[in-house]
Amino acid sequence: MKGIILAGGAGTRLYPASLPISKILLPVYDKPMIYYPLTTLLLAGVKEILIITNPDDYDNFRKLLGDGSQIGVKIEYAIQFVPRGIAESFIIGEEFIEDESVALILGDNIFHGPEFSTKLQNVIKNLNGATVFGYMVKDPQRFGVVEFDKNKKAISIEEKPQNPKSKYAVTGLYFYDNNVVRYAKELHPSKRGELEITDLNNIYLKKGSLNVEILDRGFAWLDTGTHQSLLQASNFIQSMELNTGTKIASIEETAYKMGYINKDQLLDLSKKYDKNEYGEYLKSIAD
Ligand code: G1P
Repeated sequence: MKGIILAGGAGTRLYPASLPISKILLPVYDKPMIYYPLTTLLLAGVKEILIITNPDDYDNFRKLLGDGSQIGVKIEYAIQFVPRGIAESFIIGEEFIEDESVALILGDNIFHGPEFSTKLQNVIKNLNGATVFGYMVKDPQRFGVVEFDKNKKAISIEEKPQNPKSKYAVTGLYFYDNNVVRYAKELHPSKRGELEITDLNNIYLKKGSLNVEILDRGFAWLDTGTHQSLLQASNFIQSMELNTGTKIASIEETAYKMGYINKDQLLDLSKKYDKNEYGEYLKSIAD
């Protein structure tokens, strides 16, 4: 299973804050936003990752994450020159994906919840077609919305419907078999000129091979699309971290706990942040 983080897009809704730098590099409390989706892939056991950036931020992402070897994974980069939609990720990433299945996570999607690693690894183990996650929200018209029948079987997905058929949004974390590359190439741009991830999911749905897993209320799926929601996400992370004395989405800690790096490597990484709280935290984990 390969992994893609889509970190393209202009992030105009957060201008001027995201004018000089990708929104996905802005901090969510104490770390860059991309640490959160990257941690999700690490927890899923995905160790070959492609980051798709816009042309302006390509160098910044490389500076932050390098080739991934410091955390025991392999990170490659590609550019999305024009924001042509989420589903274009699989066309841009075709060579990277090769003949494997692939997980896609949007760079601004933050997940936090119990047993998440096990849940994700089970999804990968049992993948048969595609798996996406449904999460109950109060404003479904902002998202892809999934409709269920009486037996909780998904029967439709609509992108940003005016009259949503349920309160379940499709989150920005998707798992696909290798057919996804072929299906993505068959898509036509929507009215807003994008290759829609929802159209791709509907291809799987029509073939009867889309599995929708519900993330229950014990999970946090945080939105960072507006200044208000970005601040709320930061406040949530801060509050969890202060209460527990642990960090959410530290890529170094996750890599260590997943066995991608050893104690000495973690200690080495902590030195990069010598004399600050993040470095002290990493050191405490290694100790
Ligand atoms: C995109 C998808 C939408 C999905 C959402 C999750 O929306 O198009 O189906 O529910 O991500 O974050 P966008 O971020 O482009 O508004």
